[in-house]
Amino acid sequence: MKKCNIAIVGATGLVGRKFLEIIDEYQINVGELRLFASKRSVGKEVVFQGNSYYIEELKEDCFVGIDFALFAASGSLSLEYAKQAINEGAIVIDNSSAWRMNDDVPLVVPEVNLNDVKGKKLIANPNCTTIQCVVPLAILDKKYQIETIEYNTYQAVSGAGKKGLDDLEKEFSASESYFPYDIKATCIPQIDAFLDDGYTKEEHKMINETRKILHSKNIKISATCIRVPVKNSHGVSIRVVFKQDYDINLLREELSASKGIVVVDKPEKYLYPVSTIANDNDNIYIGRIRRDKVNNKGLLLYLVSDNVRKGAAANAVQIMKGIIENYDIS
Ligand SMILES: NC(=O)c1ccc[n+]([C@@H]2O[C@H](COP(=O)([O-])OP(=O)(O)OC[C@H]3O[C@@H](n4cnc5c(N)ncnc54)[C@H](OP(=O)(O)O)[C@@H]3O)[C@@H](O)[C@H]2O)c1
Repeated sequence: MKKCNIAIVGATGLVGRKFLEIIDEYQINVGELRLFASKRSVGKEVVFQGNSYYIEELKEDCFVGIDFALFAASGSLSLEYAKQAINEGAIVIDNSSAWRMNDDVPLVVPEVNLNDVKGKKLIANPNCTTIQCVVPLAILDKKYQIETIEYNTYQAVSGAGKKGLDDLEKEFSASESYFPYDIKATCIPQIDAFLDDGYTKEEHKMINETRKILHSKNIKISATCIRVPVKNSHGVSIRVVFKQDYDINLLREELSASKGIVVVDKPEKYLYPVSTIANDNDNIYIGRIRRDKVNNKGLLLYLVSDNVRKGAAANAVQIMKGIIENYDIS
């Protein structure tokens, strides 16, 4: 594999640190490596493949010579620095929501739409819950044409970054905790801010991003996103209604045979997708597969995936690997 110079923005965060683990695991051939975070972290040592690197602050020319800049910080930081990185010669893969719905920016899950990256210098990584849902939904849409989707999510605290994990460990304090209620003791039916229609931004992300990735403006989608007292790996219960009828055994086989999907569906043996099964790997685990009782062309399923890996860092590294292996970046 061609040697690549890589920059990570947000290298001290949950996603940023996971980038390094996955780049190593995926045997990406790294030349220069530059790690950026906030002023608070400047000078901190990070060891990667036996070598020491030191956290730097973002500044003019900091992306010169870089092939890929992987952003895992805030949306505002991506808005401020992504164009600079591109002008200085890098391809940017951004984990924030800043660019996802921009018409010129592809929103990519490699199993579904890697081709959308062709000729693009800025690529957006979708929302974590959306990524794990569109992998099976793209397969089912191609075969049975999706008419409607209803999402209900069970999202782990790590989805909110370091501050979310901290809340699970610490005593609740109304003034200091990140979540508005004690997440150790309750589920919270809010992720991100509420909008005028009563949905949250997270729910809008799932609706809009699903349509963009599946290249289908007409699918009707609704979503309810819930934060749950689980450390890592998001769960999503999906009800999907197709235009075509389906054979449930065949559908199960089609999902089982697909890259990145593991069907775990023997409820009588307590085998179904629990959160912990997904931790520390890049599979999407699917179970509780059954026919809907309201609409005969409907299907119910439940899936889990590691939100920091496939929901963020691994998906971005897979995009980078896909570009290195399939497109000329010289
Ligand atoms: N966690 C997930 O499951 C997940 C999934 C999908 C997408 N994402 C997205 O990925 C991004 C990172 O999430 P995370 O969970 O890794 O958050 P996090 O753990 O809170 O980490 C945030 C990172 O941003 C850095 N940062 C903050 N202010 C900065 C500044 N002014 N200049 C440079 N770096 C700065 C932090 O550096 P310091 O350590 O110095 O503060 C830290 O490295 C977010 O946009 C998030 O929405 C997260």
